[in-house]
Amino acid sequence: MKHPVEPFRIKVVEPISLPDREERERILRESHYNLFKIPSEKVFIDLLTDSGTGALSQEQWSSMMVADESYAGPRSWYKLKEAIYEFSGFEDPIPVHQGRAAEKIIASLFLYEGAKVVSNTLFDTTRANFESYGAQVYDIPIPEAKTLDDTHPFKGNIDLKELEDLLRQKDISLVIMVMTNNTGGGQPVDLDNLIQAYEICKRYNTPLIIDACRISENSYFVKRRNPKYSDWSIKDIVRESFKHCDGAFMSAKKDGLSNMGGFLAFKDPDKTLRAKELLILWEGFIHYGGLSGRDMESFAVGLLESLDERYLEYRAGQVEYLTYALKEAGWDVMLPPGGHAAYIEVSKTLSHIPREQFPAHSLAVEIYREGAIRTVEIGSLMFKDRAKFEFVRFAIPRRMYTKSHLDYVIDTLRKIYERKEDLKGYRITYEPPFLRHFLADLEPIN
Ligand SMILES: Cc1ncc(COP(=O)(O)O)c(C=O)c1O
Repeated sequence: MKHPVEPFRIKVVEPISLPDREERERILRESHYNLFKIPSEKVFIDLLTDSGTGALSQEQWSSMMVADESYAGPRSWYKLKEAIYEFSGFEDPIPVHQGRAAEKIIASLFLYEGAKVVSNTLFDTTRANFESYGAQVYDIPIPEAKTLDDTHPFKGNIDLKELEDLLRQKDISLVIMVMTNNTGGGQPVDLDNLIQAYEICKRYNTPLIIDACRISENSYFVKRRNPKYSDWSIKDIVRESFKHCDGAFMSAKKDGLSNMGGFLAFKDPDKTLRAKELLILWEGFIHYGGLSGRDMESFAVGLLESLDERYLEYRAGQVEYLTYALKEAGWDVMLPPGGHAAYIEVSKTLSHIPREQFPAHSLAVEIYREGAIRTVEIGSLMFKDRAKFEFVRFAIPRRMYTKSHLDYVIDTLRKIYERKEDLKGYRITYEPPFLRHFLADLEPIN
């Protein structure tokens, strides 16, 4: 597997360093074996998340110098509004500081105690926001999504039959299509699947909202994997996707290629107005929604840069390179490679560690111990008994790491594979009431 050539060169550098083994052990102890609590300066390669962590382009940096920081009507907002229109076709978008601010507004507008939501698989913050409003969530990905090595091209698809059954039998308040499906392995949703899901929703008068934070990456896969769209531009696929929904929200920290930001938009003017009322209460005025003018500039430029096919080809190529190299090193991986991360599944390889002792978290800790590389567990620690897989996710920040960085990660995982039987389970010593993985304390079981 070849690593793609980067379609850019590096102009600004940020030093990174590798703490020695003793220090790494001490840091793990002091962080209570929770990788979220490790200072980033003590991380050599940071693959914790692709959210807000990527490198900015020279056009983004230069746009920030001319940002307008006015409270009402700043130039930077009109530029962002125009970019969101060009990207999505939404004429009256609402800025938010990041995705979960939009999730809270959506929850407040559509949900109540006992409400029911259906999705191809909700992301953890979306689920937590919805559940905090008393909603019950049904994740219904297609059956192929539940296997590791089925190479179905669109494992992010929603199960259309189950969707129709649920809409017929239950009073569903909302359907959310997550594109790509982060929790299920960064897998794309076919545009045709979205079109059919929206047709079904319209029949039952149920609103469909797109979680669009990785819609450019999703559209790249639609172009590559569905021959019907092979001649379409990425922009046309993105814009077509937004035609088949009642609204959308997007964390700009992903395909907005920005460090901060997001938007929320509805086709219904009444919903838009009510969302604006809540925005002022929680986020700020409708012309900045928790963002500085600089954030809005960077977002406006980054959003349109994410449509560049050469960039998307390189990005998908990096994920593919890492995924197949980890497989070659012996690990079970989610196939086909998805959009923003490689995923190792450890249920078989670390079968000596029971689920209650968090086998994927054990590997994530070991990866830090061996190589000062930070990844994240997406398994029983994050999702309790709802976890379908025991994943370690290697999320690749955008335009940031080179082939040698990824080769260092691969070598580290090769070494760990050779002594995988030595890995031990963990127990929780403190957990918060929701989203426990962010703040939990753990200790190894000896
Ligand atoms: C699919 C998905 N939806 C929503 C979010 C939430 O976005 P934010 O982190 O900007 O609040 C994320 C963040 O990783 C995500 O991956």
